[in-house]
Amino acid sequence: MIAMFDSGLGGLSIWRAVQATLPDWPITYLADQAYCPYGGRSKVEIIARSLKVGRYLHSQSASLLVVACNTATTAAVAALRQHLPIPIVGVEPAIKPAAAASRTGRIAVLATQATLASERVQALLDKHAGEVEVLRRPGVGWVEQVEAGELDSALTRARVAAVVQPLLQENIDHIALGCTHYPFLSPLIRELTGEQIALYDPAEAIARRVDSLLQQHGSDSIGDRCYRFITTAPDTQPMASMLPLLIGHGHAVESLNLE
Ligand code: DGL
Repeated sequence: MIAMFDSGLGGLSIWRAVQATLPDWPITYLADQAYCPYGGRSKVEIIARSLKVGRYLHSQSASLLVVACNTATTAAVAALRQHLPIPIVGVEPAIKPAAAASRTGRIAVLATQATLASERVQALLDKHAGEVEVLRRPGVGWVEQVEAGELDSALTRARVAAVVQPLLQENIDHIALGCTHYPFLSPLIRELTGEQIALYDPAEAIARRVDSLLQQHGSDSIGDRCYRFITTAPDTQPMASMLPLLIGHGHAVESLNLE
């Protein structure tokens, strides 16, 4: 089984790509909605929570864990690798390919405050940005809009415009989407940027990485092709009602008390 987690529903943008690449594998997706959003929390809190979620998923016989959350990856992927004896795939903002492809020498990375302030993102910038100027902007309120199922409401449009509109004056040619919730807002971002600015969503690269790691480890897709969706929120209805919108079909959702 492939296990994945995010603070909420954003990691479903990674789920879609992994499922399309590995359609025979069972996947268990855990949305830690009782703790969402992670973006305003401290590194210590995010590490403790990620370990708790990771240990639970490992106990469910995961062959591999995808940390489908940039915020949890930047804070906790090292701790997860230290404590769990399975391959772990993290998600990072695609600063390297965006900087390499830039012709204007200016790009933007959109992510949560915690991700933007992390040492890991600073290390990515030091290593891969080179001469390229990277504007760092938080998508203020974007995670909340996706969690609420408001992918196209007036408030969501206003929150997207507040971040993207000023970037249109900055001569950037690439935007790295550094939060797994943000690809669900790509249609609204594109309406503002047009074709002038390319958006980088790392989901397909992550799916290829998962595929190659499973092959390297000689893991087989055992068991039925079954999907599990788990939320740590007591009420499963909000997540269940969002699945058709986010992954194209409905599914039962289980509630898990991880306290
Ligand atoms: N989806 C998560 C990410 O990729 C973060 C959302 C949150 O702040 O909890 O960073």
